[in-house]
Amino acid sequence: MSSAENKKRCMAMVLLMVGLFGLVIAQDQFLYGTFPKGFLWGAATASYQIEGGWNENGKGENIWDRMVHAYDGGIKDNSTGDVAADSYHKYMDDVAALKETGVNFYRFSLSWSRILPTGRIDQINQDGIDYYNKLINALLDKNISPMITLYHWDLPQPLEDIGGWLNEEVVDIFGAYANLSYSSFGDRVKSWITFNEPLVQSHLGYGLGIFAPRVKGSGKTDYIAAHNQIKAHARAWRIYDADYRATQNGEVGITFNCAWDEPKTQNPEDIEAAERALQFELGWFAHPIFSANGDYPPIMKEYIASRSAKEGYNMSRLPEFGQTWVNYIKGTHDFFGLNHYTSRLIYRVKGGNETSYENDQDLASSSDPSWPSSASSWLKVVPWGFRKLVNWIHKEYNGVRLIVTENGFSDHGQIKDDDRAKYYTSYINELMKAINLDGCNIFGYTAWSIIDNFEWSSGYTEKFGLYSINFTDPRRPRSRKFSAEVYSNIIANNGFPASSTNNMTMYPFKIQFPSKQHNLHDHL
Ligand code: GAL
Repeated sequence: MSSAENKKRCMAMVLLMVGLFGLVIAQDQFLYGTFPKGFLWGAATASYQIEGGWNENGKGENIWDRMVHAYDGGIKDNSTGDVAADSYHKYMDDVAALKETGVNFYRFSLSWSRILPTGRIDQINQDGIDYYNKLINALLDKNISPMITLYHWDLPQPLEDIGGWLNEEVVDIFGAYANLSYSSFGDRVKSWITFNEPLVQSHLGYGLGIFAPRVKGSGKTDYIAAHNQIKAHARAWRIYDADYRATQNGEVGITFNCAWDEPKTQNPEDIEAAERALQFELGWFAHPIFSANGDYPPIMKEYIASRSAKEGYNMSRLPEFGQTWVNYIKGTHDFFGLNHYTSRLIYRVKGGNETSYENDQDLASSSDPSWPSSASSWLKVVPWGFRKLVNWIHKEYNGVRLIVTENGFSDHGQIKDDDRAKYYTSYINELMKAINLDGCNIFGYTAWSIIDNFEWSSGYTEKFGLYSINFTDPRRPRSRKFSAEVYSNIIANNGFPASSTNNMTMYPFKIQFPSKQHNLHDHL
């Protein structure tokens, strides 16, 4: 090679490196600015993870009660949600923490079996209705809007005894429960989420058998459980639309979980695999409800049908809705709820021989070793993935109105949780870029979680709270963590205005701890 050519090559390399470096800087650069006026800030919990009072005052057994009480309960620290954060008794402490944080709304879920011990409306437990009335009224009293999730994975056990989400009968039973919830609380509750993360309920609960009700049968039963939950969502939305919207004037949406799936290489096969991963994870549930044509994503139908045929099935393992149901489900939304925590690197591999949801996708995932970790093996800190994901959703579902219904970070529960503070700062900053720079239609953000709680099969080994709870103290005292102070500042400033630098106790690149920790109980 001539020295001129060599020089040219070197130049090109340098330019490429500068370009790549520029990209990285742009991704990680901090943006000063504020969220649109009226942007909503919230924090979330779920009934089984916080309430306790598992068999008190007429509450029926649910599938998590059954699972954790089994001889081999499948929980990492052998713990249960029998008492959890004891929010059944201590809900006023939660309200105080929310107030202190300055949120506009509180997202919590109803325990179906606290209201309907058998799951069905022929036996209403008035104590359950009273409990949620007290919570809702206490929130409103403090100017915090309630946002209710109807189903956050705690199916009444008597419904599991007839097959749970594998039984289509549960679609109507869920509709009746939704109806009762609207009629009991809808005069004051204006924001409803039918299902939280139906993928996790379907795949982990009815596929891998890691979560309640621990049914195994991935590649078959998870698809059926999902199918019935999608139908049940549509049923609940249509009941609200027909019978409550005019008088109650609220909104009904659904919440999906999704990681950002970044192609591991620029190889077209990996780029396609990453797109396919998003369709299998998010499109599985969002396409039937939010896309113009409804039904499952075409790529998912194609991949599962083709593998099913090779396995000797005479029809696809992915159930079919049929045109009547496609039309019934399509468009049943007032907003798109997104739970987002992390990102993955995706590459194409040929799916293994065993029948499973994973093998149906012909792909695998890994993470970049440079991504900071958390207490949860699956949760790596990748703020820029958040911006990419909400942009993808914006494009895919035609500028849909989106609210982030969960985002958060796990550690081991320390009060000086600077990693969580950094996580919130950087993720919320990326969300602001998606709104202010990219034009995404996002109207609110929710931190997971206001308090430490029972983290499903990880028990109490991973903590997500803005407030810590001493789980060995029967009084379950709540203490404010550093991250709560940081989040509170972001809310008070509606983002990160340049002028706020002085009055914020933290800042993105230099985090200082407040000199005095304080305990919420000091304020009660
Ligand atoms: C979500 C779930 C929450 C919470 C969180 C942290 O998937 O909806 O209940 O556990 O993850 O893992």
